[in-house]
Amino acid sequence: MTTRSIRVVALTSPDQFDQEWINRLAREADIESVERVGGIAAGVTLVQQIRPDVVIVDRDVDVAETAIRQIFTEIPSALCIAIASSSDVATLRRLVTAGARDVIGRPVNYSDLVSSVRAVVTAERGRATYASVNGDAARRRGRLVAVVAPKGGVGTTTIATNLAVALRQITNTHVVLADMGLQFGDVGVQLNVWSRHTIRDLAEHADDLDDALFEKVLQPHSSGIKVLLAPNEPEAAGEIGSRQLDALLNGLLERHTYVVCDTWSFLDEVTETLLQQADEVLVVTTPEVPALRNTKGFLEYVSQNAMTSGRVTLVLNRFPSVNGIALQDVQKHLRYPVSANIPSEGQSITHSVNRGVPIVMAQPHSWASQSLLRLAAYVSGDSVSMISLENSRGKGDGKKAHQGGGERRGFLKLMRGT
Ligand SMILES: Nc1ncnc2c1ncn2[C@@H]1O[C@H](COP(=O)(O)OP(=O)(O)OP(=O)(O)O)[C@@H](O)[C@H]1O
Ligand SMILES: [Mg+2]
Repeated sequence: MTTRSIRVVALTSPDQFDQEWINRLAREADIESVERVGGIAAGVTLVQQIRPDVVIVDRDVDVAETAIRQIFTEIPSALCIAIASSSDVATLRRLVTAGARDVIGRPVNYSDLVSSVRAVVTAERGRATYASVNGDAARRRGRLVAVVAPKGGVGTTTIATNLAVALRQITNTHVVLADMGLQFGDVGVQLNVWSRHTIRDLAEHADDLDDALFEKVLQPHSSGIKVLLAPNEPEAAGEIGSRQLDALLNGLLERHTYVVCDTWSFLDEVTETLLQQADEVLVVTTPEVPALRNTKGFLEYVSQNAMTSGRVTLVLNRFPSVNGIALQDVQKHLRYPVSANIPSEGQSITHSVNRGVPIVMAQPHSWASQSLLRLAAYVSGDSVSMISLENSRGKGDGKKAHQGGGERRGFLKLMRGT
């Protein structure tokens, strides 16, 4: 059997949690984990959460049939093995028709069971690899969108996260959000998603990435997007160089329509690779002196070094905002047009970040959400105007006053410093 480990869920009646076969399975070298669960609903939820390779269903045939049908329908990647008392053809047919890959007789013969687990996993991984290799040519490559900022704290993660969810809402296609802020990346926090499987698992298998591994590592989010989490250990960032990144980006782009990457504010090997490969680079800044100074330097650096091959779009976050610099002054200073703005909506955005629910889901009609949806429409190829200096839904119009006024003194300081 392959060295890759197998995750198992055992769905048995609660008084049978200590079955000998469960304890023995958990001790096998190629079995990574065995989780036990009793009821169907709890079982389906557990399978949805942990995405095991195999689910062993040891319940009466009526319950088993229902559970297997539900798991097969909702999480087809989880392979069901049924344990049945009766070996008559009618029972076997019911279980197989519901979606069981194999049926083992009761009382359980342990070696039959463990062979069955290995056989169904081997067959599935072989199928996935074949489909992956042979489907490559037919697969269309997705679009790579890098959200970058040369200054921390300007809202890169908030924008990347909401953009990915908004792209899913608008296009209903396969969207993955990858956290490339490799040390202390907080995409997972903003989406309330955690797993011990992260980008580190993909980097470790950069030479043999397959559907099964992507399925295990990419975490599903209730919005319908998938999430590639940053490593849980900050020191793991050093293990991910451009070779691993190239391989995993290719794998992601082959499998998704949009790959949205959140980044940190360093121009390291990872960010440079993303800039070079991205179809769309969204540069985020805010109307404040430190952010604008860094953004100017960044835009000059990437253009002098021809570091981007895709479209570079400047997004002004937290604009309009109280005491922010005026739009025309921002553009004059950066010598670059601002294509989109996201208003400063401290209360609602902070609330949504703290709750782990993106604002485009929590408050889709807010001004910030409407701006983020327009940004997603633009990324998806619509020609939309993305500058909105007042709330088109009539709320928060008072902020319009700030667009012309700005903080002139701050701007003059900025100009002097350059
Ligand atoms: N348009 C906005 N209006 C109000 N608050 C915002 C807005 N955008 C971001 N924020 C707030 O700013 C803070 C920083 O946001 P975020 O984490 O997205 O920034 P970042 O650039 O990714 O930071 P880091 O450099 O730490 O990765 C968050 O608390 C978020 O709630
Ligand atoms: Mg961030």
